[in-house]
Amino acid sequence: KEEFGDLVVALPRKEQFLVGRLYRGFWLPEPYAPGILAFRRRFTPRPDDVVLTSYPKCGTTWLKALAFAAMARDAYPPAAADHPLRRLNPHACIPFMEDIFTERREAKLERLPSPRLINTHTPYSLLPETVTTGGGCKVVYICRDPKDMVVSLYHFLRRLQPDLSFADTFDSALDGTVPYGPMWDHILGYWHASVARPDRVLFLKYEDLLQNTGEHVRKLAEFMGRPFSAAEEAAGTVASVVELCSFDKMKNLEVNKTGATEGKYKSMAHDSFFRKGVAGDWVNHVSPEMATRLDEIFRDKFRGTALT
Ligand code: A3P
Repeated sequence: KEEFGDLVVALPRKEQFLVGRLYRGFWLPEPYAPGILAFRRRFTPRPDDVVLTSYPKCGTTWLKALAFAAMARDAYPPAAADHPLRRLNPHACIPFMEDIFTERREAKLERLPSPRLINTHTPYSLLPETVTTGGGCKVVYICRDPKDMVVSLYHFLRRLQPDLSFADTFDSALDGTVPYGPMWDHILGYWHASVARPDRVLFLKYEDLLQNTGEHVRKLAEFMGRPFSAAEEAAGTVASVVELCSFDKMKNLEVNKTGATEGKYKSMAHDSFFRKGVAGDWVNHVSPEMATRLDEIFRDKFRGTALT
């Protein structure tokens, strides 16, 4: 019998694509709900672990690539022709907790050498307490302009459900019934954590990364305990990391044009993670009236924070 199966069955449910179960204020994708609960209950962090987190479609793939390239740069020099990120999709380099715990592949986690990089979309308040309290481990979050989040989410979900309309996706986003929604609470949880525990939680924005990727790679590496040395700076290592992980480079790799992620539940075509890679594409989908509605909600929710 599936662990947490009874609990998940008892949770409020929505018959909406990929929305699933309401647990402590968040809509967890139905097939991942038991895995998220198991991750919360059973994950034991190592002090030098780094958990890469995000709301879906906010730049997870890019963050995974940058963190992997920076963290593993001694073993894999970023300029090397045989770098893993030139033949593997970033999702193959860093395990996704929802898959690991849903599929009971935790032994894989144990075998990973330290410092480990792991990834999840779990909201901050639902992360394992071993991660969020005491020494825990480090957490990096990436978020994005909510209008671009909704547009990117729509294009992604449409790959799985071709008849999905943008208007429906937009309305779902505004009433919170999207995977891991509501989006604002997802962002706020990590924002408040980054204010309360700045040494443990790094809060990044996709738009800032686009504007100055190198500066953020330095920030990320330093936060992860792997600052670039003067010799590396002189050798242009940061620029090599940025180049290796750039949208154009990654999108055009053979591995990212073909193939799919290995998650048993939802295997996604690699190319679905590389669409436009820009800020502001929302203007092509969101009407001025919709933009006003969304902006009002987020302004209200983010009041009192520096997120507005
Ligand atoms: P768009 O749909 O707006 O193009 P995630 O990785 O969280 O699923 O987010 C996917 C979004 O990040 C997509 O946004 C995708 O194009 C963009 N993206 C993926 N790789 C990127 C990279 N290397 N640089 C910049 N953006 C990237």
